[in-house]
Amino acid sequence: MQAAAEGGAVEREGARLLDGAALSQAIRERLAPRVEAFIAAAGRPPALGLLLAGNDPGSEIYVRNKIRQSEALGIATDLRRLPATAPFREALDIVEEFNAADAVDGILVQSPLPAGMGADAEARVFDAISPAKDVDGFSPVSAGRLVQHRAGLVPCTPAGVMALLDHAAVDIAGRRAVVIGRSDIVGKPLALLLLHRHATVTVCHSRTVDLPQVAAAADILVAAIGRPAFVTRDFVKPGATVIDVGINALTDRGEVVAIFGPGSKKLAAFERRGRVLSGDVHPDAAAVAGAITPVPGGVGPLTIAQLLSNTVRAAEDRRREDQ
Ligand code: GUN
Repeated sequence: MQAAAEGGAVEREGARLLDGAALSQAIRERLAPRVEAFIAAAGRPPALGLLLAGNDPGSEIYVRNKIRQSEALGIATDLRRLPATAPFREALDIVEEFNAADAVDGILVQSPLPAGMGADAEARVFDAISPAKDVDGFSPVSAGRLVQHRAGLVPCTPAGVMALLDHAAVDIAGRRAVVIGRSDIVGKPLALLLLHRHATVTVCHSRTVDLPQVAAAADILVAAIGRPAFVTRDFVKPGATVIDVGINALTDRGEVVAIFGPGSKKLAAFERRGRVLSGDVHPDAAAVAGAITPVPGGVGPLTIAQLLSNTVRAAEDRRREDQ
């Protein structure tokens, strides 16, 4: 964003911040009357079944937040927990029980599953989730529908990124979008969503040659690699919209100083708490970008808002199918 400085000179004043927390609140407010209408018509609330296996600390926090926000909106939750040592069959049994339960509308199996369940456990468990209840959009049916641009439940983080771009009125059609990261959860589905909106999309990854130069061609640059401050200012075309999907916990003081600087607020927060969050985008990039998402408070809150949205939609669609 350019601003006229005193004396008439034009000076760069830093990127516009894309506020995911505010948009997430607006999405939840729009969902509230739909939840009320569902309860009035169905005689029960929309309901989300969750499976949390093992003790991954990040997953504990995510699942707690998903439950808290669901219940605040009037969505019922049913959390099943399994120890990290549980056999895979028990995870499958829970998914099958949720599939069969008429009063469960959405199913969420928190990733990652414990290593002891086997390398293919996640794929097998996502295979088992009924597509009508697949509020994460991770089942092969949901993924296939997304590839073919057909109606279906869309993964929450990519859907949140699109909501944020639309809310900020960022032009997508005809623009160059570069997505760094090719995960099934974020990079691949987001590339498809951008493609369906007529962006020219490049997906980059750890083997991409000349990554900063490829990224610097982007009008919309998405960082979804899970590496703190990996995307520095030289990856960013001046004025580009930068979407930071990374949520990385920093527990090493030296790393906090190296990324945020010795006099930074982040370092002060680190001294108090012993831990701060960093996105995948270096703070320097904000001086070059036209618009950028903060971490925290950017993409993160939208992931949960989209989960709530998918759950309400699954509940409404299942009820319509039943009638
Ligand atoms: N692990 C990291 N992100 C997600 C997500 O969006 N859904 C689930 N189920 N697990 C995750």
